[in-house]
Amino acid sequence: MSNEELAKYIADCLNSGLNADSDSSSLTNSFKIVVDQAKGYFDFIPAFPGPFKLTKGLSDEIQTILSGALFPYITLLGYPSVNLVDETRRTNGLHLARGLRFYFLVGGTDRVEIESLESNLLTTDNQIKLQENLTITPANHPAIAINGKSGSGKSVLANITISGLLQYINYQQWDWDYDFMNSSNSEIASLFNGKLINMVDPKLDLTTFYFAKKHESQINYFALNDEVSNSEFLNTINSKEADFLKIMHYRQIQRLKRPNLRFAPCVLCCDEIQFATSAVSKSSLSTFQALTDRIILTARSSSGLIMLLSESFPIPGSISSASRDGLTYKFILGRGNNISKQDTRFLMKDFDPDTVALNPDEYGFGNGLFEDSTGLIRSFKTPYVRRLI
Ligand SMILES: Nc1ncnc2c1ncn2[C@@H]1O[C@H](COP(=O)(O)OP(=O)(O)O)[C@@H](O)[C@H]1O
Ligand SMILES: [Mg+2]
Repeated sequence: MSNEELAKYIADCLNSGLNADSDSSSLTNSFKIVVDQAKGYFDFIPAFPGPFKLTKGLSDEIQTILSGALFPYITLLGYPSVNLVDETRRTNGLHLARGLRFYFLVGGTDRVEIESLESNLLTTDNQIKLQENLTITPANHPAIAINGKSGSGKSVLANITISGLLQYINYQQWDWDYDFMNSSNSEIASLFNGKLINMVDPKLDLTTFYFAKKHESQINYFALNDEVSNSEFLNTINSKEADFLKIMHYRQIQRLKRPNLRFAPCVLCCDEIQFATSAVSKSSLSTFQALTDRIILTARSSSGLIMLLSESFPIPGSISSASRDGLTYKFILGRGNNISKQDTRFLMKDFDPDTVALNPDEYGFGNGLFEDSTGLIRSFKTPYVRRLI
């Protein structure tokens, strides 16, 4: 389909969908659509004076109409605010000088299927592939949050991501000699038992347990027994976060001397955060928030990566809004087509989940939304793992 044909289809859909009276139709020149498939966007350019107000309401309405109308050939990406762009290079005059930009991907967002957690997830350019049309990269992405109700597939998604990270680490060269595990200071060298991947799991999740065991030369698995209280759990997380910060700090010092050092990602993954943050003392909670804020601030330059999994991300609670804004990848999972404003309220502030078309498949887990570090939001399906254990 050419850009012009697509633009005409979009304009037709908006003409019938935007509660348009004859004044606000593109047929009478009240708006124009310009498409650029190569760059993956289209612009809605309203004529002024005219019937349109460039509000979030209008932007959401366009988004809602088109995410359905373009499915499954084109996947419209959501955006939590109005994306106003300057159109003066296309026109000279006040009337058509600005537009609303919407980003899209050509193609659908099918679920990937893999045989086991060990299946290859890396693309040729060392990205981790999580879905058709969607890869993530550990470089410069220090903080991941996974939110979803019990059974929505958070732990499995974390295991898949960590498996991808292990592959990412194992297939490249890193400057091990200068890394913390080879420090001459034995206290530093023994942080995290000298391993890069650390998982804290209060639930003794079976998949996580077996996955970590299979890779025990590279993964520390900290499980807590049944009797442990919420506050003990939080204290455990806090001490791991403190150790993690020591590693970040060590790496920063190394980089001051040798700025080009390449460190493999060092990962701290904490599951079931909601346990840790309910009914605990205010002081442990604020320690947790302060440590998390610092990790998110410093991890990028030290190849650190923190993953937080929780059934909910309320305010105040698991993390501060500063940490929330530092999260570089956010996943919100549901068990069906049931992502509500309540689910997105904290992690994807100001975003209306109705503006992105979700098309859940026959699997009852791992269906939801993904936001990348540019703020673009899309429907997401966790890879299906045929054999989990
Ligand atoms: N990507 C997946 N592939 C295969 N099975 C999955 C996947 N995600 C979830 N499941 C199934 O759903 C169950 C619940 O997933 P889990 O990750 O434990 O949810 P949560 O951690 O959100 O409570 C798993 O034990 C598994 O049987
Ligand atoms: Mg879980």
